[in-house]
Amino acid sequence: MKKLIFLFFLIATLSCKTEKEPIVDASSGERGLIAEKAMVVSAREEASAIGLEILKQGGNAFDAMIATEMSLAVAFPFAGNLGGGGFMVYRKADGEVGSLDYREMAPLLSTKDMYQDENGNVISEKSKLGAMAVGVPGTVAGMFATHEKFGSLPMSQILKPVIGLARNGFVVTEKQAAELAEYRDVFVKMNGENILYAKEYKAGDTIKNIALANTLERIAENGREEFYGGETGQKMIAYLKEKGGIMVMEDLANYSTSWRKPIEITYKDLNVISMPPPSSGGIVLGQILNMIEEYPLEEYGHNSVKAIQVITEAERRAYADRSFYLGDPDFVEIPTDKLVSNEYLSGRMEDFSFDKATSSSSLEHGKLPGYESDETTHYSIVDQYGNAIAATTTVNGAYGSKLYVDEIGFFLNNEMDDFSAKPGVPNMFGLVGAEANSIAPGKKMLSSMTPTIVEKDGQFWMSVGTPGGSTIITSVLQTLLNVKEFGMTMQEAVNAPRFHHQWLPDEIMFEPGAFDSELLRTLKDKHYNINENKSRIIGKVDAILRLPDGRLEGGADRRGDDTAVGF
Ligand code: GLY
Repeated sequence: MKKLIFLFFLIATLSCKTEKEPIVDASSGERGLIAEKAMVVSAREEASAIGLEILKQGGNAFDAMIATEMSLAVAFPFAGNLGGGGFMVYRKADGEVGSLDYREMAPLLSTKDMYQDENGNVISEKSKLGAMAVGVPGTVAGMFATHEKFGSLPMSQILKPVIGLARNGFVVTEKQAAELAEYRDVFVKMNGENILYAKEYKAGDTIKNIALANTLERIAENGREEFYGGETGQKMIAYLKEKGGIMVMEDLANYSTSWRKPIEITYKDLNVISMPPPSSGGIVLGQILNMIEEYPLEEYGHNSVKAIQVITEAERRAYADRSFYLGDPDFVEIPTDKLVSNEYLSGRMEDFSFDKATSSSSLEHGKLPGYESDETTHYSIVDQYGNAIAATTTVNGAYGSKLYVDEIGFFLNNEMDDFSAKPGVPNMFGLVGAEANSIAPGKKMLSSMTPTIVEKDGQFWMSVGTPGGSTIITSVLQTLLNVKEFGMTMQEAVNAPRFHHQWLPDEIMFEPGAFDSELLRTLKDKHYNINENKSRIIGKVDAILRLPDGRLEGGADRRGDDTAVGF
């Protein structure tokens, strides 16, 4: 009887939405939301719910993607957007895989040294704040490209609940109220006192974005052209011009999305499918997985000194390659196959020793034979037909360039900062780049976004991704390893404390207060530089795992307001 009561409570708990509880580091078997057929996990409950509503109306994962992404633009302007860009990886029920690049582009009047002064010094703020920081947005084009190829419901039906959300309003959460308060002064400085987000909002207030509702209505009616040539585009360009920007209508007409062949990596019995350039996500994730594969991580233990060392050293080497080799593949030749080959990577860890950290200053990008590169949001969707998507979208920094076009209801990105303003000079994520990621008109800036789908035994197994700038790749990596190597549930894998190394700066960033001081001391003794101070979070992972019985488990990150819903 006791067992039955326990089972009842367990099922009742699992049927509820994910509760917001403290982050734990234990494999207690605690699971996230369980659903029979379909699931949406995103940064906001409203966006997940609207995505699910579209699935319930008979739509597929791609229809739900459009609804979720546009709802994030309404309820989570911190990163959700019409004024930014993103990437999507998909796996259809029949096993077909692919990816969509809807990353922003450099305006046609961009120049390689546009963020340098007359002495060649980088003017750091110029690529981060205001009109010069804005890349040509790709999100609306991405939604229409997805709809054209895979959509099953009319765009007007998909956008209807999103327009309703914008018109009727969304409720400000505690975390959102704190974020809006933090940035309010800069919104006012950049846009004046009269914009929607110049007001002071507290938790529980409702924000109605009527201008965005009207914009979405025009997009539903007029299609892609509304943004890339119509009233919305014209208003955006006029505002950028008023603020001293260089983007013109021709930039919007010139914008294009690309369907790209994803990176596929075999890790033990898994097939990891992730985003190719212009995101570095797939290649860097693939390199790290390849380099760590021969080490018995499970034996070392989760977040043990040895596991941290192996992962850190592989990350160090992969990020060094990222900085040299990677950029927009439409502009630079990328030796993708070589970079992820066993032949190349098997030699990359040869100089690693458990006794002492490798120093990043002594380590460069690898030499390939025959070869002469934070604030974002991710959502995962699985539909009732067996299709899965992983999509990550961004305006780059929190609220992007902080420019808000009040008339049309959205913020504009500061994605230009993801280019290398000058070789060797770090961007806002401390990442350094080289020629491969230099600025050129119409070029897409290198990204770390890593929307990823994993197959096991030829079937869908996991959809995973996260925001977090340069920490995106390593957060996706650890979430995957937490399930595969350390036997965690999806929710536990998302909850578990994370760490990060990116070659330069030469330090391991640990989630503050989450790691044992003895462990950190041991790593210091081995000459690892430890950074526990930065409060920058290491991702907000949203993921879905297929359980052995075919049901789905959601992992919604409690570091944010992230929520899993399903049926
Ligand atoms: N803006 C962050 C990234 O794309 O990696």
